[in-house]
Amino acid sequence: MNPQPSDHPGADTPGLDPAQLGVGDMDAETFRRHGHAVIEWIADYLDRVDDLPVRSRVTPGTVRGQLPAAPPEAPEPFEAAMADLDRVLLPGITHWNHPSFHGYFAISGSAPGILGEALIAALNVNGMLWRTSPSATELEEVVLDWLRQLLGMSEGWQGLLTDGASTSTMLALAGARERTDLDVRQRGLAGRSDLPLLRVYTSEQAHSSVEKAAIALGLGRDGVRTIGVDDAFRMRPKELAAAIEEDVRFGYRPIAIVATVGTTATTSVDPLPAIADVRDAAVAELGHPIWLHVDGAYGAALAACEEHRHILDGIERADSLVSNPHK
Ligand SMILES: Cc1ncc(COP(=O)(O)O)c(C=O)c1O
Repeated sequence: MNPQPSDHPGADTPGLDPAQLGVGDMDAETFRRHGHAVIEWIADYLDRVDDLPVRSRVTPGTVRGQLPAAPPEAPEPFEAAMADLDRVLLPGITHWNHPSFHGYFAISGSAPGILGEALIAALNVNGMLWRTSPSATELEEVVLDWLRQLLGMSEGWQGLLTDGASTSTMLALAGARERTDLDVRQRGLAGRSDLPLLRVYTSEQAHSSVEKAAIALGLGRDGVRTIGVDDAFRMRPKELAAAIEEDVRFGYRPIAIVATVGTTATTSVDPLPAIADVRDAAVAELGHPIWLHVDGAYGAALAACEEHRHILDGIERADSLVSNPHK
């Protein structure tokens, strides 16, 4: 038997939309009405965001203190939830969409992106396999191929979308770890006496995601050796070569180098061709692969401009690249 609205807690709440009382979702008409209100709210917000303080001025606990400590027994009308958004949540927002927000990177919440997010939510796509949503897989492939072309990279490159550069770098280093003959995917790292110490190299200006990836992948912070930079904050290839040589003498196994195209702090660009030379020489010497990953999260998209394409010189010798074009 279908539950009737009156069976539900909150049925007597004044102003409650009966459509919100069932076990299911809103009916299409209610959704349309509330949806229009949300779009109006967003449009007004984007229009007035520069009148709001860039950084939230609330003190710790202010937002939490205005929310119920226990889950509410009854639902609230949509209008009340929107009023809470203005009254409780908005003061606790740091406005990354503010034109004067210069704390980290420029905004990624473009108007087309916001509308796209709404459509994505409506479609509720799960793109884990082609057949779980062919359009998701094929659109992803096409969009990434457009990006490849924009960056002037050769046809052999393929890619995937992730939730961010940190995840991408972790996946790249998982690939590097897998490319060894150590069978970590199957046997793991813990408790094995047959493993050498594994080492990843990156510059002292690299993003913290490299270290985080090493932690998550079981290589540990000690598994990352940082290489010094020159007076333009670029990795020193000679220092890299010396570090690899020294590590090998002490029994480490180099498995990956992460070069950065556009470092977070200064936008410096590591010399990819010289780093690839060091990698190739080490591979020839050691007889096992060393993965070259390029963190272009911040800078790589600049290569879409013909006159800046040189920042990716040497990319064809790399094994992987991450780019966050919205940055
Ligand atoms: C060079 C570089 N790499 C990686 C990241 C991490 O990016 P995400 O936040 O997408 O994980 C950043 C972020 O600022 C970055 O500047």
